Amino acid sequence: MENFKIDVDADGIALITFDVPRRSMNTLTSGVMKEIPEWVERVKTDDAIKGAVLTSGKASGFCAGADLGDMASGMLGGSDLQAAYDAGWRLNGALRALETCGKPIAAAINGLALGGGLELTLACHYRVTENDNKIQLGLPEIKVGLFPGGGGTQRLTRLIGVQAAMMAMSEGKSFRPNDAKSAGIVHDVVEKGQSVEAAKAWVKGGGKAVQPWDEKSFKLPGGGPYHPAGIQNFLVGNAMIRKQSWGNYPAVTNLMKAVYEGVQVPMDAALRIETRYFIKTLMTPQAQGMIRSLFLSKQELDKGAVRPADQPKSDPKKVAVLGAGMMGAGIAYVQAMAGIETILIDRDQAAADKGKAHVEELLKKRLSRGQLTQEKFDALLGSITATTDYDLIKGSDLVIEAVFENRELKAEVTRRAEAMLEPGAVFGSNTSTLPITGLAEASARPEDFIGIHFFSPVDKMMLVEIIRGERTGPAALAKALDYVMKIRKTPIVVEDGRGFYTSRCFATYVAEGLAMLEEGYAPALIDNIGRMTGMPRGPLEMHDDVALDLSLKVAKQTQADLGDAYQPLPGSEIVRKMVEDLGRYGRKNGKGFYDYDQKPKKLWSGLGDLAPVTIDDSTPELVEDQKRRLLYRQAIEVARCWEEGVIDDPREADVGAILAWGFAPWTGGPITMIDQIGVAKFVEQADAYAAKYGERFTPPQLLRNMAAKSETFYGNFAGQKQAA
Ligand code: NAI
Repeated sequence: MENFKIDVDADGIALITFDVPRRSMNTLTSGVMKEIPEWVERVKTDDAIKGAVLTSGKASGFCAGADLGDMASGMLGGSDLQAAYDAGWRLNGALRALETCGKPIAAAINGLALGGGLELTLACHYRVTENDNKIQLGLPEIKVGLFPGGGGTQRLTRLIGVQAAMMAMSEGKSFRPNDAKSAGIVHDVVEKGQSVEAAKAWVKGGGKAVQPWDEKSFKLPGGGPYHPAGIQNFLVGNAMIRKQSWGNYPAVTNLMKAVYEGVQVPMDAALRIETRYFIKTLMTPQAQGMIRSLFLSKQELDKGAVRPADQPKSDPKKVAVLGAGMMGAGIAYVQAMAGIETILIDRDQAAADKGKAHVEELLKKRLSRGQLTQEKFDALLGSITATTDYDLIKGSDLVIEAVFENRELKAEVTRRAEAMLEPGAVFGSNTSTLPITGLAEASARPEDFIGIHFFSPVDKMMLVEIIRGERTGPAALAKALDYVMKIRKTPIVVEDGRGFYTSRCFATYVAEGLAMLEEGYAPALIDNIGRMTGMPRGPLEMHDDVALDLSLKVAKQTQADLGDAYQPLPGSEIVRKMVEDLGRYGRKNGKGFYDYDQKPKKLWSGLGDLAPVTIDDSTPELVEDQKRRLLYRQAIEVARCWEEGVIDDPREADVGAILAWGFAPWTGGPITMIDQIGVAKFVEQADAYAAKYGERFTPPQLLRNMAAKSETFYGNFAGQKQAA
């Protein structure tokens, strides 16, 4: 075997070490799945073996789950359902053989075990893990549009009950070792490095080779569908799941079905039910789009897929951050976490200290959760110098500017910081609205000037949008990408332009909500329709979060810059009145489309005077049409960005849209959505919206050309990659 090593000790206990060659982390590749039955057979039939312990030979973890790349190419290919079922059954069949082999098998979980990795251990008769907060145990498949298909839906449910298992699987939440023990997922937690010994002791002590669910006396914890309390879990669970997913995710619905049907039959039948629903889910456009964007493409971008290959690799060790406000402090935090020395500069010491205090708060949270030792906490905080002294910038590899959004101020700090920089060091601006080429005019070295656009809150948001100015050079781009990869965020690279890529497209969602408001839709309906599309929040509430005064300021700046070419967005007069006449700025001053003086927030009662409700239709047909309208409006802007060359890689467009502004993840992103709908059909519907709502829906010529040739974005991209 390539992936497993077997050593039988003097007590007849086989230590099976899982160690996929040439990979830093174990995954369930097709080779691994082929070999599991091989070692199970050996354990079963070799009389010298009394029992076994399964562990990992990797320092990085036990097993990260299925190899989604393998799975996507192996199972998604054809339309042969039987072949797909057989492929899906392979792991389930192997794990069922494992748990019924007749000899005790214990899992020594000496590192993280996620997805199929955890499922492998759930098929073992005993699980022991180590007291190490780096270890996570969970079934996160739902995050890529799937659900556990290696027995997880059946075994976890039988171990911890329907309610707890459904919550863990529908949220994809992972457990730290001690929480996993309290939840009943593992039997024991021992000190670091002790799990193999503990597992062997269990086998030697007469560990039972029968799973609880294979005992005659087995009862499902909490009860199943025919139990008065058990049925509640399904009734309430169904409603909760609907509330969270709005029916957009087949994975969530199919997960519930697999659990509901599976717990009513013996394990062998239950596993077949799971495999059927799993394959059905895997074949949906939603799962295919989500696997591609949220897993495969994201991983490619994380590894530097768009980095200029001819530039030498750099490793930023010292980075100065100008402006210790909300963004600057967040940036200092992620830098510290990545081991980068940070000079955090503000205009006075108190402001700089305030920024560092914010970092301290974030670090304290980790400390209290046991994710940091006191020593590490001190070292991380110590790596940040809060100061007003620009001299300390000397020796920095990079400067990130995050001062107020003001051109003159940014120009001034650019000049002051650049005076301290060595040749080759990069200056990155975190501006959210000002074109990079214009800001670079203040720079003496525009080839080293670039946009590095973070999202708020910096510690949570995974994307960074890198913006190339007209004169930005490839060396600066490569260094900016190396920096983003070092702080473990996902980079996309876009060309300069108003609102760059993410802010420009996101703005259309918010603006379309305003258009609906102006047309006479009820505000509650607008935001509900927004949520039903799969966006994180409705357009009005998201507008409140961004701040209405900010959007008015951007509109005014755009008008000043564009002059006669400026076309006011629908609903802009409502926003002007809200800000200038009524002082309603949004969440930040507690007054916007919503009132925030109570929890939960309530729609502002005065909104009806500003925008009277005249449409009383809320039929499912209308709702569907308006959902599509909100998604189409954003996707059309994405296609325009593509036509203008702002973005040219479907992976960046899709991953960027989902991670930056929460574009409905079930679609796989706006480009995947257009491809899956079919460009011709998309164009036809967009034209219909344009006739009804205005030119902003007119599809760009690029889409018409693609429709005429029956092309898709991903198809063209694959062609380009092959040609390159
Ligand atoms: P903020 O107002 O919280 O922080 C700005 C900081 O800059 C303040 O602490 C201020 O004292 C400091 N500052 C002003 N003049 C300075 C000088 N001469 N030298 C050093 N520091 C100086 O603003 P925030 O929200 O952190 O935004 C900063 C930048 O990031 C802006 O360009 C903004 O457009 C951009 N941005 C903001 C996002 C957000 O969600 N707030 C998202 C992405 C970008």
